[in-house]
Amino acid sequence: MEQHESKTAAVTGAAQGVGLAAAALLSRLGYRVILLDIQPLDAQVDKLRQHGAQATSLCGDVSSESFVQDLALQIGREHAALDVLVNNAGISCIARAEDTTAAQWRRVIDVNLFAPFLLCRHLGAQMLARGVGSIINVASVAGLAGVSHRSAYNASKHGLIGLTRTLAAEWGGRGVRVNAVCPGWIKTEMDAADQGSGAYVDADIVDRVPMARFASPEDVAQAIAFLADGSHSGFINGVSLPVDGGWIADASWESLRVSTRRREPG
Ligand SMILES: NC(=O)c1ccc[n+]([C@@H]2O[C@H](COP(=O)([O-])OP(=O)(O)OC[C@H]3O[C@@H](n4cnc5c(N)ncnc54)[C@H](O)[C@@H]3O)[C@@H](O)[C@H]2O)c1
Repeated sequence: MEQHESKTAAVTGAAQGVGLAAAALLSRLGYRVILLDIQPLDAQVDKLRQHGAQATSLCGDVSSESFVQDLALQIGREHAALDVLVNNAGISCIARAEDTTAAQWRRVIDVNLFAPFLLCRHLGAQMLARGVGSIINVASVAGLAGVSHRSAYNASKHGLIGLTRTLAAEWGGRGVRVNAVCPGWIKTEMDAADQGSGAYVDADIVDRVPMARFASPEDVAQAIAFLADGSHSGFINGVSLPVDGGWIADASWESLRVSTRRREPG
């Protein structure tokens, strides 16, 4: 991919996992990166700078409109508009639908769906004023199909795909592309916490995926960088790109899927 020295990208949820991998890759590609997270980010920014990145950070809750408004003011002052916005911050919630509380449901929708809307609303408006920009929303295979015990999470990711398609339709003619990536299960802190609660084990995921492994944060970051870069994906708008090793394409039953795998000789 080409270098992007004069371009600025903001990534939410950049303290760890997919967000940190995306910020690191975009900085290696030459973007100035702005890391956003509710957790402290100083160590991550220092490390990126040691590798030559132009990186800054802002700590706050992306579901707070006043935080997003302040961010938009700062970006407007310093850059006029972002070139790339990655809406990656997200939280998980594993519970039976009948046990999911109203407060849990609202928090998941706030962080996973309302926050991307706020960021698109305020930072997308600046992109529209300049007539160029690329927004990538991090959804999930859980935005493309139902998965039990995740009613709030799945509804948020289905909603995020709906928001992606609607903004792509509304803004594509004004130079701003809006796409989503839909990862399968990824080895991050979110997965460690979900597995720690006893929800599933590695083999459940590996056996469900035609390519027989978890996604890595880097797999997802590469797809984000592709969608960010108009010289590679300039006519791609409104897609929800699975980054799932074939999960969503595969309706095989488990023993059939596993029987297709390469066998070690002997
Ligand atoms: N891990 C998976 O298996 C998986 C699979 C598919 C999709 N995803 C999605 O990928 C994205 C990244 O997931 P991850 O696995 O890297 O998760 P993670 O939990 O490792 O990282 C998420 C980051 O978001 C930040 N964050 C949470 N709430 C925030 C808020 N209100 N404001 C600002 N920052 C906030 C957290 O502090 C954390 O740094 C999420 O949207 C998630 O839903 C994850």
